[in-house]
Amino acid sequence: EKGGFKHFMLKEIYEQPKTITDTISGFFSDLNNPVYNEIKNIQNIVIIACGTSYHAGLVGKFWIEKFVKIPTIVDYASEFRYRDFPVNEKTLIIAISQSGETADTRFSAIDARKKSAKVLSIVNVVGSSLSRESDFVIYTYCGPEIGVAATKTFTAQLITLLLFSLKAGLERGNLTQEEFEKYYNDIIHLPHLVNEVLKQDKAIEEISYKYHNVKDFLFLGRGLNYPIALEGALKLKEISYIHAEGYPAGEMKHGPIALIDENLPVVCIVPKDSLYEKMISNIQEVKARKGIVISVSDSQDSHLLSLSDNIIKIPSVENENLYPIVSVIPLQLLTYHIATILGKDVDQPRNLAKTVTVE
Ligand code: M6R
Repeated sequence: EKGGFKHFMLKEIYEQPKTITDTISGFFSDLNNPVYNEIKNIQNIVIIACGTSYHAGLVGKFWIEKFVKIPTIVDYASEFRYRDFPVNEKTLIIAISQSGETADTRFSAIDARKKSAKVLSIVNVVGSSLSRESDFVIYTYCGPEIGVAATKTFTAQLITLLLFSLKAGLERGNLTQEEFEKYYNDIIHLPHLVNEVLKQDKAIEEISYKYHNVKDFLFLGRGLNYPIALEGALKLKEISYIHAEGYPAGEMKHGPIALIDENLPVVCIVPKDSLYEKMISNIQEVKARKGIVISVSDSQDSHLLSLSDNIIKIPSVENENLYPIVSVIPLQLLTYHIATILGKDVDQPRNLAKTVTVE
């Protein structure tokens, strides 16, 4: 049932061109979702989730602010639950959960609803508790995810949040139909672009052989790709048990820079987007302290090449909003290979449950 793959995690990483395609089609078969009517009344948005779903929420916030133009915060469900965050009937809670069974996410949503907020859930499992406890549901179409590490469901959550933001932006008059279609035409190339990244698998495995013995890793990104740095670090901790930290690159000099020496690999997500030059300055700072630079980039600039000890190539995208979906794939593969080289049980890492139904 692993379809010829050694582990479910690897199978699920490779399924992404298909699950992205299915999630896009699923989204378009649900354009009459009543949430798009409700969105006209909404004044603030709160995204709640745990783990990888929380990271999807952090990326989603950028898209919602840009296209829907409604102030948005993102919080860990386990924190949101125990705070007195003011909500009312003009608040939309977006609860993101692969399983739809995560206790903290569910109970945050239930409590907020009692205080008259509206709840939209983004879930993968049809008929799950959270989907039944929400006012509106948008599904991701990934089929079952068996590996404890979330992979294909993360990219599907991202696609869903991007499409939701575009559609909600259209409904609120921030986007024309033409602009919406232009984005759509870029988005439908994603399965192909993800396939291109999967072709880097061998090269990524070779890099993994160089660094599987280190004690710590740092992941850096900016803007839309900063949550991807967090996600890379989470994946590595979860399945390889190597300590890793993800940081917004601009925060590095406020503390983590002290960690950098010649033994520390620093994975830099540095797509050719509007923050490219800012990332380059951060990479220079890493190099000046002899850190090992692993760049994930579509840039061919000699400057970046000279600063990087290793480069993982990603394809360029038409629209920089799509970079997070492309740039997370190499991190999934990198962490997978490091963990398997170390002989870890990637599908069932120690101490972890696929679904956390306890509080
Ligand atoms: O089912 P959920 O999306 O609510 O699960 C949330 C987290 O428990 C989950 O994403 C966890 O962090 C993953 N194991 C990460 O790979």
